Amino acid sequence: MATKRVMVLTGGGDCPGLNAVIRGIVKRASLEKDWEVIGCIESFNGVLREPTEIVVLDEKSVAGLLVEGGTILGTTNKGGPFAWPIKNHDGTWTTVDRSDEMIRKLQYMGVDAVINIGGDGSQRISLALSQKGLNIVGVPKTIDNDLSLTDYTFGFQTAVQICTEAIDKLVTTAASHNRVFILEVMGRDAGWIALHSAIAGGADVCLIPEIPYDIEKVKEKIEARYTNRRGFCNIVIAEGAKPIGGEVVGKASTEVGYQHIRLGGVAEKLAADLKNIGVEHDIRYTLLGHLQRGGIPTAYDRILATEFGVRAFEFVKEGRFGEMVAYRHPEIIGVPLAEAVSKPNLVTPDNRLLHTAKGLGIVFGD
Ligand code: F6P
Repeated sequence: MATKRVMVLTGGGDCPGLNAVIRGIVKRASLEKDWEVIGCIESFNGVLREPTEIVVLDEKSVAGLLVEGGTILGTTNKGGPFAWPIKNHDGTWTTVDRSDEMIRKLQYMGVDAVINIGGDGSQRISLALSQKGLNIVGVPKTIDNDLSLTDYTFGFQTAVQICTEAIDKLVTTAASHNRVFILEVMGRDAGWIALHSAIAGGADVCLIPEIPYDIEKVKEKIEARYTNRRGFCNIVIAEGAKPIGGEVVGKASTEVGYQHIRLGGVAEKLAADLKNIGVEHDIRYTLLGHLQRGGIPTAYDRILATEFGVRAFEFVKEGRFGEMVAYRHPEIIGVPLAEAVSKPNLVTPDNRLLHTAKGLGIVFGD
C-alpha cells in the first residue's frame, strides 16, 4: 500500500521523449513499495480545474511509451498557476495568481512531491513554486536546447535528425534544378538546431539568431556556388534569425495566455530579399514547423529522457527539491532551478561547433 505520492506533469511545447521520461519515473518508482505516481493533465491545469483531471500512472499505463511521441498527459504553453486566464464581462481576458490555492489543493490531495517536465518557462514556474515551499524537481525538455547547465535537453537530437533528413532531401532537388534552397528551422532565440543540422546536412549558409547577418555575404556565397548558372546552394535559417539592424519575423499570437511572439516566415523574407539584391537563380524555401517536434524520439533522446526520468524520481526519494536534473557528460547531475533559468543557453562566438562550421566554409553572414 503506497504511502507517498509524486505527481508528474508535462508543460510547454511538446517534444519527443516526454513519454519516455514519464515511463522512466513510473518504472523506477514501481521498484519502491511505498510510492504512487499520479499524472496531472495539461501541465498544472489538471489540478487547477474543477473537477480535477488526474490519472494514476502504473507500469501498465506506461507500457510501450518509450517510442511514443507527444505526451500522454497533454501539455500547454499558455496560462499556469501564476497567470490563470479569466474572461471579463466585456469579453477581454485577465490573469490571476492561483499558486497558493494550488499548493493547498496539492496538500489536500496528499501529493508529497511534484516532477515538472518542461522548458525554461515551465522551470521558471517550478522555481517560483519551490520558493513557496512546494517539493518540486525539474526535468529539462525542449527541442531548442536553450536551457543552461545541461549539455543537452531531450528532444533536441530528434529535431536535429529531422532537419538533417530534410536537408538531405533538399540537396538532391536543389542540385537537379540548380536552385537555392532555404530551410527554416525552429529554435526561438537559439541557433542550436540550425547549427547542428547545417553541419550534419552539409549546408553552405547557416543563419542563426545569435549572429545578425549581412545579406551581401549570403549573396556572395550563393554566387560562389555557381559556375555559368550551374550549381546549387543550401541555406539553413533559424526562425529567430535577423539581418544586421533588422527585426525577427513573426506575429503576436491571438491565443489566450500565449506570451511569445509566434515566429515564422523568415525563409520567405530571405528569399524575397535575395531577389531584391539581384540574385537571379531560382530560390525556393521550406518550413519544417512542428514536424520537428512530432513523432518518435531517436535512440539518443530515448536514453537521455529515460535517464532523466529515473534520476528525477531518485531526487524526489532523496528529498533533493528545488533542483533540476541535468546532463553534464558523463554524469546526470542536479542543478539549482534558480541557476538553470538564470540565463539561456545560446550559441557563443567561442563555440566549438561554430568554429568547425566556419572551418568548413559555412557562411553565417558575419
Ligand atoms: O520552444 C519550442 C518551440 O517549438 C520553438 O522552437 C518554437 O518557436 C515554438 O516552440 C512554437 O510554439 P507553438 O507550438 O506554440 O507554435
